[in-house]
Amino acid sequence: MNRWHEVDQYLTETVVCPDDAVRNAVSTTHDAGMPAIEVTAGQGKFLMLLARMSGARRVLEIGTLGGFSTIWLARGLPDDGVVDTCEFEPAHAEVARRNLDSAGVGHKVTIHVGAALDTLPTLTGPYDLFFIDADKVNNPRYVEAALTLSRPGSVIVLDNVVRGGDVLDGDGEDAAGTRQALEILGSHPRLDATALQTVGAKDWDGFALAVVLE
Ligand code: DHB
Ligand code: MG
Repeated sequence: MNRWHEVDQYLTETVVCPDDAVRNAVSTTHDAGMPAIEVTAGQGKFLMLLARMSGARRVLEIGTLGGFSTIWLARGLPDDGVVDTCEFEPAHAEVARRNLDSAGVGHKVTIHVGAALDTLPTLTGPYDLFFIDADKVNNPRYVEAALTLSRPGSVIVLDNVVRGGDVLDGDGEDAAGTRQALEILGSHPRLDATALQTVGAKDWDGFALAVVLE
């Protein structure tokens, strides 16, 4: 096992302390044959803390998968908080629905099944926090949609911005989509942003974090 993984395991056990609900959500997702690409427990709890620290009440997630990050986001919200989450695959949405209900946060979450690019124009903002973690080719469109649905102070998190260094010279459409999204985050007059590299259970990757300005 790569040492990053061992340290991630240690930090997860020592600091993050995921409960049965989140552990079960991961195993049911993998048992359903879905890709093991959900955020780590440490990243999930980071999202939860970010929601709580920013006082978020309305969250928009793009890319539900099995609902693992969704559970963490929902947990960071007050009782009357809501998460709208977009998922392309109906089968993934079904697994996510079960995981969210089992974790006791299902009442806070609406899963919108279909292409996020079709769903996003039907949603009403503003959202306080966005987590973009779907098909990377559309990352620039997702960042633009988040801006449209934002208010000053809204927070945008974009996952997988490094992908083992692919962001620098990857020649696929995913890397290109992420590069374009990062360029928007770095240059848009209504955004202030940073991007951090991470290592851990998901190897070498990173995320971008932005706040929407006046
Ligand atoms: C992968 C990881 C992710 O977090 C994601 O959203 C998509 C793909 C991957 O490692 O392939
Ligand atoms: Mg991701």
